Amino acid sequence: MNTHRKVHVKTFGCQMNVYDSERMVDLLAPLGYSQTETLEDADVVILNTCHIREKAAEKVYSDLGRVRQVKRHRSANGEETIVAVAGCVAQAEGAEILRREASVDVVVGPQSYHKLADAIGRVRATGQPVVDTEFPGDAKFAAMGKRVGPRTATAFLTVQEGCDKFCAFCVVPYTRGAEYSRTVVEVEAEARRLAEAGVREITLLGQNVNAYHGDGPDGRPWSLARLVSRLACIEGLERLRYTTSHPRDMTDDLIAAHGDEAKLMPFLHLPIQSGSDRTLAAMNRKHTREDYLSLVKRIRSARPDIALSTDIIVGFPGETEQDFEDTLDLLEHLHFAQTYSFKYSPRPGTPAAAMAQLPDAVKIQRLQRVHDVVARQQLAFNQGYVGRRLRVLFDRPGRRPGQLAGRSPYLQAVHVQGDNSLIGCSLEVEIQGAGPNSLSGTIVGRAP
Ligand code: SAH
Ligand code: SF4
Ligand code: F3S
Repeated sequence: MNTHRKVHVKTFGCQMNVYDSERMVDLLAPLGYSQTETLEDADVVILNTCHIREKAAEKVYSDLGRVRQVKRHRSANGEETIVAVAGCVAQAEGAEILRREASVDVVVGPQSYHKLADAIGRVRATGQPVVDTEFPGDAKFAAMGKRVGPRTATAFLTVQEGCDKFCAFCVVPYTRGAEYSRTVVEVEAEARRLAEAGVREITLLGQNVNAYHGDGPDGRPWSLARLVSRLACIEGLERLRYTTSHPRDMTDDLIAAHGDEAKLMPFLHLPIQSGSDRTLAAMNRKHTREDYLSLVKRIRSARPDIALSTDIIVGFPGETEQDFEDTLDLLEHLHFAQTYSFKYSPRPGTPAAAMAQLPDAVKIQRLQRVHDVVARQQLAFNQGYVGRRLRVLFDRPGRRPGQLAGRSPYLQAVHVQGDNSLIGCSLEVEIQGAGPNSLSGTIVGRAP
């Protein structure tokens, strides 16, 4: 076996893809592959792709153009390069990718990437491309074995996959398949290994993470709140987070956990998509504006300092000026710590793609109006912490030498002067500066 092979992975899309990319690297490690940041050095190139909006999907094809050139160049030097497309574009387009880009050797969907090593072997043996976009249910996690990495202070851990909600705009139910939850035992074992490897903060992931209903050790389905309280017992683990949640699945026990469970961080990403009941109904979101407002009230009464973030889509088919103003009004009313806003992008095969579309100019103008509100709100939220102390978990070097970066409990990025040896430490920081996207401050001492 060649023990000096290299794999290069480029990840697009959501955190679940970040997790999957790490697992694919784990899978190839026993075969002698180490990870490289340099595309030109790679024997295997993996593009782990996202299909959520048109731009994301098209980005993959422009990247594949570059990969094709590198592959040709390496081939001229007698080096083989295997190109794999994984993730949601792979799932959505399957063999079509081979027709559009002949340099691709392997296409694996998000539910079949555990067979990646096997697929690479088959390509090497036969010279023929391999496409695998099956949904083998729960086979993936069982087949993958133990998680190796990461050696970092923070980590993602996928606990739930797929979605049964079928919002009219969204490809996820088609690319990720039906809802599935990993068992409590499996999740706990992975979390313990991460903590033993030095991970201090775990973010539990799922397309609908709060719909988690994995089998517990008692053979009964456990809620996300119960899972969180179980994981909170793991020694060395300081912080837990979870994302992304659907408003419909915010159960009472999960809301209560935000008040009771000290390790559960006071931050919640809760996409609303629109502030207009008309638009929410057309989107098939299964919640109203009022449902969301009363939910936020309950969450804030369980944990008054909680930071909320949300997602907004502007320019959904049929969205009137009044519908859009309802969204702006909701944003003004709720004071989110962070808001991610997107121009509606018609996705093949989704119901909304067949509806009458708004002109792009309207979407662009509405997106700008949302941005203006959001920038002001995010700045106000962050400025509220200037002069106060926050406990920051440092997880990476800062942009400039001598700088260190980490996250506050409210998920704000915090930059300080400090040595890289402090990565992995939770320290008290006095906040001195605030922008719309980050804070800066000075370390004032070791946290108790
Ligand atoms: N599972 C999560 C989010 C999935 S996708 C949830 O239920 O909210 C992340 C975000 O992308 C969505 O919240 C939505 O705001 C946005 N999005 C999804 N499909 C989109 C589309 N077709 N056009 C524009 N934005 C979209
Ligand atoms: Fe997509 Fe809606 Fe499912 Fe979220 S809940 S993944 S937006 S279909
Ligand atoms: Fe994109 Fe798939 Fe995630 S479409 S957002 S990578 S679930």
